[in-house]
Amino acid sequence: MPTTFTVNGKRTTVDVPPDMPLLWVLRDVLDLKGTKYGCGIAQCSACTVHVKGVPTRSCRTPISRVAGADVTTIEGLSPDGSHPVQRAWEEVDVPQCGYCQAGQIMSAAALLAKNPKPTDADIDAAMNGHLCRCATYVRIREAIHRAADAPAANASTPGRSNAAGETNE
Ligand code: FES
Ligand code: FES
Repeated sequence: MPTTFTVNGKRTTVDVPPDMPLLWVLRDVLDLKGTKYGCGIAQCSACTVHVKGVPTRSCRTPISRVAGADVTTIEGLSPDGSHPVQRAWEEVDVPQCGYCQAGQIMSAAALLAKNPKPTDADIDAAMNGHLCRCATYVRIREAIHRAADAPAANASTPGRSNAAGETNE
């Protein structure tokens, strides 16, 4: 059954079963491979995207639930990897293997959109549930503070295509 939604600013219709996870649609149907599959059971947060601006585990979100909604993936966070969170990630050199990082960046961006100056406790609460096998947690916290201090941090809105922050498939 066709489902129409907006991905990274582009209206998109997919003809897939209504219970197909959004993550499958993004990666396998739309070829947006920046969003990662970690556990498939909403336990790691690697698959996090924004649905109506809210960080959402796409592995457990059926496509039918996003009908008509705006979805933003790591590819759409900025046109050229220049979102303050992406820049801070680079400056702090956060990633190690990189696998969890797209999801981490999406939650960090959503946090700063609603809380421009988060405390350590705010950050820990917002990033709770994001697992990183490489234990980059301290650098993630530092990068979020750095992004919060960046001049354009709060003026940024989701963009359209392509991205830094992509990692190995
Ligand atoms: S892949 Fe979705 S939470 Fe782990
Ligand atoms: S950077 Fe390797 S899992 Fe997070």
